Parts: sequence; structure tokens; C-alpha cells
Amino acid sequence: MMASLSVQTLFVLLVFVTASYCMIEEASAVEGQREFDYFALSLQWPGTYCRHTRHCCSKNACCRGANAPTEFTIHGLWPDYNDGTWPACCTQSDFNEKEISTLHDALEKYWPSLSCGSPSSCRGTKGSFWAHEWEKHGTCSSPVVHDEYSYFSTTLNVYFKYNVTVSGQEFCDD
Ligand SMILES: *[C@@H]1O[C@H](CO)[C@@H](O)[C@H](O)[C@H]1NC(C)=O
Repeated sequence: MMASLSVQTLFVLLVFVTASYCMIEEASAVEGQREFDYFALSLQWPGTYCRHTRHCCSKNACCRGANAPTEFTIHGLWPDYNDGTWPACCTQSDFNEKEISTLHDALEKYWPSLSCGSPSSCRGTKGSFWAHEWEKHGTCSSPVVHDEYSYFSTTLNVYFKYNVTVSGQEFCDD
């Protein structure tokens, strides 16, 4: 199947306990350049995530008090294969925050880090949450997404289009 942004190939994944999901991810991640089959939009629920906050720091959106997020926020847009595996760390394209400076406010609001930790990026270094998502997943999003800016803008657009807060009512009625 051609990788494309269509309703059929988009799978909305709700990640409530991100830590355990990341372990699964490490176990079955594969190196590979073959074209992926679909995107998973991974979201996180701040209510659950922030309950486990022990330390505060400026980059943790859980620590924004009354301005902390109250709806699903973005974890990442993940290219996946139909066989349950996924490509990771596909090109050596280091994250450059300047490339997404015009998206910064939207990303802080809709794609914030919900922890103080610095996740590993692809080559053993530690970086921001955005750096991790771009280097691990974003670099494997070709041919739909070609660069860092389009990875983040595409993900925001998908998140707005498939607003799970709106569609939550439909899920419940089905
Ligand atoms: C999703 O829809 C709800 C209800 O209309 C709205 O309050 C919220 O701002 C929307 N979220 C996004 C990210 O657009």
C-alpha cells in the first residue's frame, strides 16, 4: 500500500502509559528504509501522565499549573509497517529547533513534553522530546514527509483534523 495521508491509513493510537509503550517500541523496532504502510498518531492523556510527576522543571507542561494541558496532546506521528514493526532512525538528520521556530507556540501547546527527562535520540545523545520524535520517527516518514518542518506541521494538521475530543462522543455511542 502506498504510504499516504488518508483516513484508511491513519491509525489513532491513544497512549495512556507511555513508558510501557516505549519498551514495546524498543523491542520490535527494526532498521530499514523500505516504505512504511501507515502512520500512527500517538497521543497522550495529560491527566494520567501528570499524576506521576515528581519533579518540576520549565520544560514539563505538567508544571504549568492552571495552564497545564487538559486534553490529549501529541506524542508523535509514527510510520509503521503492517506486520507490527516499524522503521526507526532512518537518516542522520539531527534535530534543529530553528527549522520549526514558526511552529514553536503551537508545539508548546499541543505537543509539549510531559516530563523533565531527556529522551535518547538516535545516536546515543540525549535531547528534547521533539528531537527524539523527529530523529527516531520523523526521519522514516519519507515519502510523505521530507523534512523536519513538514514532519511537525503535518503532525499538527493531522492532530487538528482528527480531534479525538470531538469524536470521543461518537466512540462512546457506537
Ligand atoms: C477539539 O474540539 C474541542 C471541542 O470542539 C475544542 O474545544 C478543542 O479546542 C479542539 N482541539 C483542537 C486541538 O483543535
